[in-house]
Amino acid sequence: MKILCVGDVVGSAGCNILKSKLPALKRNFGIDAIIVNGENSADGNGITPQSAAEIFDAGADVITGGNHSLRQSNAWHLHEDNPFVLRPANFTDAAPGCGYCLVDFGFTKMAVINLIGNVYMEPYSCPFETADRLISQAKKDGASIIAVDIHAEATAEKKALAFYLDGKVSFVFGTHTHVQTADCQVLPNGTGYITDLGMTGPFLSVLGVKPELSIRKIKDKVPTRFANAEGSCLLEGCLFTVTRDGKCEKAEALRIF
Ligand SMILES: [Fe+2]
Ligand SMILES: [Fe+2]
Repeated sequence: MKILCVGDVVGSAGCNILKSKLPALKRNFGIDAIIVNGENSADGNGITPQSAAEIFDAGADVITGGNHSLRQSNAWHLHEDNPFVLRPANFTDAAPGCGYCLVDFGFTKMAVINLIGNVYMEPYSCPFETADRLISQAKKDGASIIAVDIHAEATAEKKALAFYLDGKVSFVFGTHTHVQTADCQVLPNGTGYITDLGMTGPFLSVLGVKPELSIRKIKDKVPTRFANAEGSCLLEGCLFTVTRDGKCEKAEALRIF
């Protein structure tokens, strides 16, 4: 089975390239399921019911999130109402929605687990322990394929989690840094891995933002209201090929212009 994971979609430009590229990608690669990180899909950051609808219209089965998931006020209802829009599972219990869902293929099921890191981020619950708990849940729910989105800043934390989960889940992909890493691989016990999927949005940008605004914030250190860049977009992600019993056979990074 082939499962495509797509890096953080940035704004309406990101939603548009998703809609223009995903249907053909799905056909050409024979993709069975698509997981998209949508934490930046709304213009002005976060996710809204409208941006989530655009991602689902493009062909996504599950939307994962991150530190920006609950930024927009109407994101609260979205997460409560739609079980396929996830926020990190290791948020506190006060957060709406959840970080785990099941996709039923009929002959097998895929569990999707969304986690957020602790290193250089807010102090959330431990992603390792949350993963253990949700893997047990996935087994009880009869999922043979388990996908994990680790939304984190530190490459070491993502990689440590991937080795910790090697052989226990089908694949682990990192999100949040918006820069695709060149390390997609299958770990020794059969778990596919990439440290960061990259981003889906404006190519000539700093993580999706207009470069001049990033320079102003980082160089001049003055308060700056970010705006998304314009111009041509790319779609970045990773295609995992897994057996029906959940072992990863192949992991290939994709960059589609
Ligand atoms: Fe992001
Ligand atoms: Fe993020």
